[in-house]
Amino acid sequence: MRKYFKKLPLELKEIISQAAKVSQEIQMPAYLVGGCLRDLILGVKNFDLDITVEGDGIIFAQHLARKLKSRLKIYVRFGTATLILNDRLKVDIATTRQEKYPYSAALPVVSSGSLKEDLKRRDFTINALALSLVADKQQKIIDPFGARADLALGRIRILHNLSFKDDPTRILRAIRFSQRLDFKIEPKTLALLKEAISAGALDKVNPHRMRDELILILKEQNPFGPIKQLGDLGALSFISTKLKIGKSTQGLFKSITKQINWFVKNFPARRQLDSWLVYFAALLETFTLPEIKVIICRLGLPKGDQKRVISYYQERDKLISSLSKKRRLPEQIFSLLEPLSYETIILLGAVSQNKNLKKHLADFLEIYNGMRLCICGDDLRGLGVLPGKEYQMIFAKVLAAKLNGQVRNRQAELALIRKLLQANK
Ligand code: CTP
Repeated sequence: MRKYFKKLPLELKEIISQAAKVSQEIQMPAYLVGGCLRDLILGVKNFDLDITVEGDGIIFAQHLARKLKSRLKIYVRFGTATLILNDRLKVDIATTRQEKYPYSAALPVVSSGSLKEDLKRRDFTINALALSLVADKQQKIIDPFGARADLALGRIRILHNLSFKDDPTRILRAIRFSQRLDFKIEPKTLALLKEAISAGALDKVNPHRMRDELILILKEQNPFGPIKQLGDLGALSFISTKLKIGKSTQGLFKSITKQINWFVKNFPARRQLDSWLVYFAALLETFTLPEIKVIICRLGLPKGDQKRVISYYQERDKLISSLSKKRRLPEQIFSLLEPLSYETIILLGAVSQNKNLKKHLADFLEIYNGMRLCICGDDLRGLGVLPGKEYQMIFAKVLAAKLNGQVRNRQAELALIRKLLQANK
């Protein structure tokens, strides 16, 4: 294991070493488990550490948080805790447990269990290995299901025949990992995965859980691969039975990726894009607005995300037709695009190949976006204008002049207001 540790970033090494110390001090065996260990062996960066403890995960987390001086969130209901060290590094801590599924797709009934039982309840062999955290000693790998062999062979394998029926969201996870890691789903696992889909296992899952898995897929580096594979398997009917993933979806996803890369490269200071939302909205291109509203409501998309998807579909045709014209005044571009989210703008740029539209989008992001006046209401009141229609009209006119480059500073804004008032007398 030493060779893998050598490559770890210092901050992760420090957490692991402090966790090993806590384990010794409070006499609770602790293990690094799951995806972080998988990625450690594969040499893939992963800043989400998972620790499982034989004893009491919450008490362990409290000790570790004190040692690392980190923020701690405790989830009493689940008996778990999360240490937040900074905005990209977190440690999830749980107590070893076993899970029983009372019926297919139910949430599992959890009870305490040994480390082996904790590993056995997991989705795939590659996620079912542990590393004992022992201070000052060589750490030992616990691999009861052949995880290392599967990692070496590039193989996704479930641990028991009922795995997909117990938790059908693992169907989406299998496809996601297989695409991300470029692993093959081994034949028996693939047969059981297909059997679970045919048996309607996915229809039994709460749509909100399906949505969360879908979002994880859309956050992957190349989301088209897993989406296409799921479409071919008939595993996207939870979005709509009418959804087809074909060449046009592929073209649109490619165009979105290009557009996102352009945005990230050219506007690094802007807020981070919710790229998944752009791909998600793109999946709905062939649906009518009422159909889209039904889908996003059933999936329980948060209200803000619903609004972004709906505003795109409500405005799309008008925006494309208006922005495809060459001669557009800055104030026109501003009033069309300023109310929209970046996600909507990115999708618009991906859907249309019109050169004028692309130029207007770029100008908006480079020059007009977020433009505000230097003057405020007090300035207008100072000049004798009271809040009301005239007030709004003056603001709009000065902002239009600023967008068009006719006024550039506060003095010029005030001068224009005086001129407008004079003309209105
Ligand atoms: N797990 C599972 N069944 C699920 C979800 C999770 O068995 N439906 C287990 C897996 O062992 C997984 C661990 O819980 O490794 C942690 O889950 P999660 O953080 O979702 O998975 P990671 O493997 O860390 O995946 P990623 O790299 O995408 O974060």
